[in-house]
Amino acid sequence: MCGIVGYIGRRDATPVLIQGLKRLEYRGYDSFGIATVGSAIEVYKKNGRISDGEAGVVGLRGCTGIGHTRWATHGEPSDLNAHPHTDCSGRIAVVHNGVIENYGELKRQLAGRGHTFRSETDTEVIAHLIEEHYDGDLLAAVNATLPLLRGSYAVLAIAEDTPQIVAARDASPLVLGVGDAEIFAASDMTPLLEYTERVIFLEDGDVADLAPGRYTVYHGGQTVERPIELINWCVEDTRKGGFAHYMLKEIYEQPQSFYETIRAGIDEHVRQMVMEADEITLVACGTSYHTALAFKYLAEPLCNIPVRVEMGSEFKYFTPPLRGLAIAVSQSGETADTIAALKMAKARNCPTLAITNMQGSTVTRVADETLLMRAGPEIGVAATKSYTAQLAALMEIVNLRCEGAFDDVLSHAHLAIGDVLLQDINEAVALCSKAEHVFFVGRGAFYPVSMEGALKMKEISYVHAEGYAAGELKHGPFALLTPETPVVAVCTPGPTYGVMASNIKEMKARKAPVIALGVAGDTELAEIVDIFIPIPNTHLLVQVLTASVVLQLLAYHTACALQRDVDKPRNLAKSVTVE
Ligand code: M6R
Repeated sequence: MCGIVGYIGRRDATPVLIQGLKRLEYRGYDSFGIATVGSAIEVYKKNGRISDGEAGVVGLRGCTGIGHTRWATHGEPSDLNAHPHTDCSGRIAVVHNGVIENYGELKRQLAGRGHTFRSETDTEVIAHLIEEHYDGDLLAAVNATLPLLRGSYAVLAIAEDTPQIVAARDASPLVLGVGDAEIFAASDMTPLLEYTERVIFLEDGDVADLAPGRYTVYHGGQTVERPIELINWCVEDTRKGGFAHYMLKEIYEQPQSFYETIRAGIDEHVRQMVMEADEITLVACGTSYHTALAFKYLAEPLCNIPVRVEMGSEFKYFTPPLRGLAIAVSQSGETADTIAALKMAKARNCPTLAITNMQGSTVTRVADETLLMRAGPEIGVAATKSYTAQLAALMEIVNLRCEGAFDDVLSHAHLAIGDVLLQDINEAVALCSKAEHVFFVGRGAFYPVSMEGALKMKEISYVHAEGYAAGELKHGPFALLTPETPVVAVCTPGPTYGVMASNIKEMKARKAPVIALGVAGDTELAEIVDIFIPIPNTHLLVQVLTASVVLQLLAYHTACALQRDVDKPRNLAKSVTVE
């Protein structure tokens, strides 16, 4: 949560920072702010979205600056709680992503020594601690401050009259961009794409001293060399490209991102790891948890391997006995709970694999091996193309364990995904946008597909939705079925078709309107439901993909019909870096 950005070089820092913050806004968007080193430290910070408040930054001068876009943890969203935070004298400014767990105690001590606090944030203590150690040497003051902090941080600090940024990370991401006589710092690569493809992923415990065109990285007080890596994304990927929302663009990019992920294949180390496993445990959160669960429903029957799926947030406190390969699935690679679970699996000597979209992210550093998805930057808060790219990576694993039995299915799946993008779902959208509650049901692999359909619906349209294994509905939730409660059921040919059809009839008997996703030409199913949405009659692996894409579109268009802020749903952030 929260995005930070820094710039030092020859350009006017303000537009670089604002543009960078807009790219990071998916990480949090309740307030924003920047500080530049002009003749003094100049700060502008504002509650609300960047697009609503950016006019206020006009007049901030200097070629050195830092910025922040916030997802509030300590203190409500407000002008005062927005970052940057300054010391008592206003000579030092900091932005911070993470949580300072001992800020209460530090704040009491600092207040006792005469410091005046203006915000309710944990971050402000950092500015005051740096102030206490500052005698003109910012690097030394930051170095003296960091050991006093408990928790997680990516911090950027500036001081007046000094063309310098000191950057530090511990358990929160921070990337440097190396340009021509200019250096950038950011929570992820997206703000850098416009300016450079050369990046350095800082490690936990690193402190970097940034000056125009020069940087030095320290670890444990010693200078260290960190490799410069090349970014495999381009700036066009971060633009809306004529679509009304990033989410719609990203839904439409799925044939390509799925295909690219399949095409990239699995490298030899990962292959070996997967083939040697006699049991697999996946850890993930949110949408990534749903892809992991879909993997279980596919891999256990198709490859006959036991698969356990654990929520990252539960794993830490209720760690199961672990055997075999542990896989962390995370679009961002920065989800705190998933990282913690991955570390625990590693500590228990499991071989570990990260499936992520983010080159250089924390999970790639923790896991023994990485399988990189090729979804490109996903800006909409709701996961769409990263979901199907995760499925691509996981289906590749299924295929590998099945000795390539699904080579043909997977290499053509993107075509079927492309077909369903054109599916007419207007009637279903009209029904869902009038509803207060919607149920999504399916069996087998369509159970996690239904959970994901419900998650998409609730997070962007705010219509209450539940994803259920179809057979569970009559063990309680049936009490909620009324003519105003649509049920979206995925029912395709296979061993559960008959029982799904019976379930649908039971729902109809309670007068719930049923929207069914079934294979094209299934007139029998079409006759018993209110709205029938056909998906291509293909292999189960492909049906999982196409049904998911239809449910993404259903959520998207329902949210649009209800005039929701599709790309930035309330209270959310894309990357959940706190527990
Ligand atoms: O980056 P991750 O995949 O680890 O994120 C996990 C969840 O926060 C994420 O999947 C979230 O549920 C989706 N953005 C919802 O659409």
